[in-house]
Amino acid sequence: MIDIALPKGRLGEQAYALLAQAGYECPSILEKNRKLIFENLEKQVRYFLVKPTDVSVYVERGAADVGIVGKDILLEYAPQVYELLDLGLGKCRICVAGYEDFYDNRDKVLRVATKFPNIARRYYQQKSRDIEIIKLNGSIELAPILGLSDVIVDIVETGKTLQENQLAPLETITEISARFISNKVSFKFKNKEIGKLQETLKQTLLKG
Ligand code: PRP
Repeated sequence: MIDIALPKGRLGEQAYALLAQAGYECPSILEKNRKLIFENLEKQVRYFLVKPTDVSVYVERGAADVGIVGKDILLEYAPQVYELLDLGLGKCRICVAGYEDFYDNRDKVLRVATKFPNIARRYYQQKSRDIEIIKLNGSIELAPILGLSDVIVDIVETGKTLQENQLAPLETITEISARFISNKVSFKFKNKEIGKLQETLKQTLLKG
């Protein structure tokens, strides 16, 4: 049995569609209910639906053998897992954003609101820019509007949220997409099964 942690939501749905296409289907997952565990004994696969930010926690601690997680989470939390494959799903970027005419006065500490304090800190460290991190958990775009921060570091996918709040992307920090990850011990002891899943996913992606 392979235990797979999937992020709840749109990315999880796309990831499951890919896994099903690769032969790891589990039709009960498509039923509209509130179950969190789904298994297909015939295919020897079990899915867990977890919060996107928790996928790497389940995989790192071995509660799941493998999982699908955004690169943003891997960069932010640096979990001790193997990153096996870029699935090319959920493509977006992490940006510095703010008012389009924002002028960075380097005499002042820059106030940065974000869900990604580690990514933001590393980025500005490398630019030798002093910042103050304001950690938020969502609706980050509100921060510069309400004067809570000067800029934000956040995910930009379509750019619509920024646009509709009169903000704009100012700098791109990094491109993001979903990754197939494995627990390190599982990778050793279930090497054949995980290797096969990795290879099948790779071939499925190539076929498009
Ligand atoms: C993310 C991100 C932006 C938005 C970007 O938020 O934090 O707010 O998506 O997408 P767009 O460029 O396509 O508009 P999410 O939906 O995860 O909600 P959150 O505000 O709770 O973080």
